[in-house]
Amino acid sequence: MLTVGVVGATGLVGSKMIEILQERSLPVKRLLAFASRGGPDRTVSFHGESIPVQIINPGALEKGTVLFGATSSGVALQWVPPCLLRKVVIIDNSSAFRMSPEVPLVVPEVNPHAIPDEPGLIANPNCSTIQLVTALAPLARLSPIEWVSVSTYQSVSGAGARGVAALEADEERAPAVNRFHRNVVCEIGETGESGYTTEETKLVRETVKIMEMDFPVFPAAARVPVGVGHTESVTVRFRDIVSSGDAGRALLGSKGIGVSATGVQPVAVEGTDPVWVGRLRNHPSDARVLQFWVTADNVRKGAALNAVQILELLLKR
Ligand SMILES: NC(=O)c1ccc[n+]([C@@H]2O[C@H](COP(=O)([O-])OP(=O)(O)OC[C@H]3O[C@@H](n4cnc5c(N)ncnc54)[C@H](OP(=O)(O)O)[C@@H]3O)[C@@H](O)[C@H]2O)c1
Repeated sequence: MLTVGVVGATGLVGSKMIEILQERSLPVKRLLAFASRGGPDRTVSFHGESIPVQIINPGALEKGTVLFGATSSGVALQWVPPCLLRKVVIIDNSSAFRMSPEVPLVVPEVNPHAIPDEPGLIANPNCSTIQLVTALAPLARLSPIEWVSVSTYQSVSGAGARGVAALEADEERAPAVNRFHRNVVCEIGETGESGYTTEETKLVRETVKIMEMDFPVFPAAARVPVGVGHTESVTVRFRDIVSSGDAGRALLGSKGIGVSATGVQPVAVEGTDPVWVGRLRNHPSDARVLQFWVTADNVRKGAALNAVQILELLLKR
């Protein structure tokens, strides 16, 4: 039986983690809930019990505690290092440590072997990366991948509770640049010198780290006025011919993937666990090129569920 703490327990991802820990009946003896402040009005519910929200005190953590991180990367940089000194296990959702060479970046269906025997910090990938690599991994077993082009249509919940509130507020306001309602915002995160945004760079770097393969990824990330569910249009060029039929069969037999002939829309995937792949088709002039759509619930498989699955892997060992 474990002591589990959720840092960011009041946010979108943290509260979904608490929900999934209950759904999947993990052996949690004690749940600790942390956020930016406590107070009499701040509790979370776990198996019918009201748990007070507190400010994290690394010195009070017991060895062996499992901490799920669901805070921004700036906040994670403050609490993760002192907590690691207490010999706890941390599964962090922020981007703060994902690209550190010594930190495993894990999607259980793709690279469970990346978790060392005595893990300290494990990073959960970006939501768009998780659904992309889950779909790419079975296809990469059919033929080596030469390149991947991906355009994302990301829901506002990917920007946390503030993103959801902003879409609701925008519905009341006059049209404006960068608002979510009735718009497509073709820039997520900050734009760097290369012209690519931080969100696009995460997709490129995290994909090759998780897949342990070196191929170029051409990304374009946009925010669309959808509540939950990220959608991606993916084009893959393989070294050899990969027919859409073979690709569909490989995906159908893979863990964590659902296949639909018609494509799957975000309204249909909210609240579901799989990564959904649809509309597989080969390019008429090059059968080594395969195109398809990928959709997943970004708060579940794109964040909270993936993190809980990592804990399940640790418990199986
Ligand atoms: N949303 C997604 O689809 C998604 C997917 C993948 C990864 N992620 C990543 O997961 C992380 C959390 O995202 P989210 O969407 O859940 O954000 P969110 O809804 O904005 O929640 C942020 C959480 O962080 C807490 N927090 C803020 N300052 C803190 C502090 N100083 N100490 C402790 N906790 C603090 C907040 O608590 P208060 O209530 O006290 O402010 C809140 O619980 C981010 O790094 C995000 O990039 C999100």
